[in-house]
Amino acid sequence: MDGVTSRRAGPDDAPAVADVLIRSRRAAAGAIPPAVHSDAEVRDWVGAVVVPEREVWLTEDSDGRPLAVLVLDGDWIDQLYVDPPVTGRGLGSQLVDLAKTRRPAGLRLWTFASNAGARRFYARHGFTEAETTDGSGNEEKAPDIRLVWAPPLSL
Ligand SMILES: CC(C)(COP(=O)(O)OP(=O)(O)OC[C@H]1O[C@@H](n2cnc3c(N)ncnc32)[C@H](O)[C@@H]1OP(=O)(O)O)[C@@H](O)C(=O)NCCC(=O)NCCS
Repeated sequence: MDGVTSRRAGPDDAPAVADVLIRSRRAAAGAIPPAVHSDAEVRDWVGAVVVPEREVWLTEDSDGRPLAVLVLDGDWIDQLYVDPPVTGRGLGSQLVDLAKTRRPAGLRLWTFASNAGARRFYARHGFTEAETTDGSGNEEKAPDIRLVWAPPLSL
């Protein structure tokens, strides 16, 4: 997509970050279990915890409209969400590449077993399955999978 840029999100961006997470997750209903938190709880958590304490990247179009969000927490991809009207146009791939640049030693993430699109997406980006669970350890109580990416060995 033309004119798209990604930048670190600051405190003023928290509402836009929360909007992308809420809209994308809602649109992924079926692939992702229903949210256990209300929209207001998500907004509070993004403003109080995610933006201040984690590495948040916001992708915008040339008019500053938010399109996608990447949240890194240590070597975890904590959140990766693309706004529903612009999924499938390479924005998620750009943010995974950015995550690899930011964490060249390797990355981990959890995805729901039911999220076939995301599993295919991460497999294409070199992530492999390290662990599967029955979901008893997550808030949604839905089976999930820990995926890992390690950089290619340089010989
Ligand atoms: C998964 C996701 C981050 C990928 O980003 P994207 O910008 O849509 O992906 P790209 O255009 O770079 O790559 C295309 C691939 O992404 C996946 N994809 C595309 N649209 C998707 C959608 N609506 N939902 C899930 N995966 C999708 C597919 O694997 C697609 O490949 P395909 O053509 O073989 O189907 C994005 O679609 C998304 O936010 N989905 C909903 C939320 C989600 O599942 N987040 C990941 C949680 S772990």
